[in-house]
Amino acid sequence: MSQGKFALTINRKPVSVTADADKPLLWVLREELKMPGTKFGCGQGLCGACTVLLDGQAVRSCQTPVSAAAGHKVTTIEGASAVPQGAKLVEMWREIDVPQCGYCQAGQILSATALLLANPKPSDEEIDAGMNGNLCRCATYLRIRRAIRKAAG
Ligand code: FES
Repeated sequence: MSQGKFALTINRKPVSVTADADKPLLWVLREELKMPGTKFGCGQGLCGACTVLLDGQAVRSCQTPVSAAAGHKVTTIEGASAVPQGAKLVEMWREIDVPQCGYCQAGQILSATALLLANPKPSDEEIDAGMNGNLCRCATYLRIRRAIRKAAG
């Protein structure tokens, strides 16, 4: 594996990391940068727990090599409230008390942020389609949908 130095912008701060080029962004965030908000679920791109924003698009950080994130803007749950849509969603998540165990919720909020960035007034069908890849074992889906609807105003 080739080690390299990678410059990223994480939550608006420039960051430089030395890592294997194919190390998943998830592990760079958690291990190198000590940012535990982004969660490991399946490690295979199937559950959405590790979702972050890359230039405003939702990506699975377990499937995104750090080399692919270099030069781009990464937003994690630690910085979600700096994005107006993310701040509104976090507020509604609290108001509606969305989480149960909470494990998947960082990924849910980042996917919802990407959804509202792309579509400020999604219909219920569009919310369901946009959030489709984010699994929740506690089945908080109805509260998630309600929080997104309220955040969209
Ligand atoms: Fe990345 Fe499940 S941990 S999609």
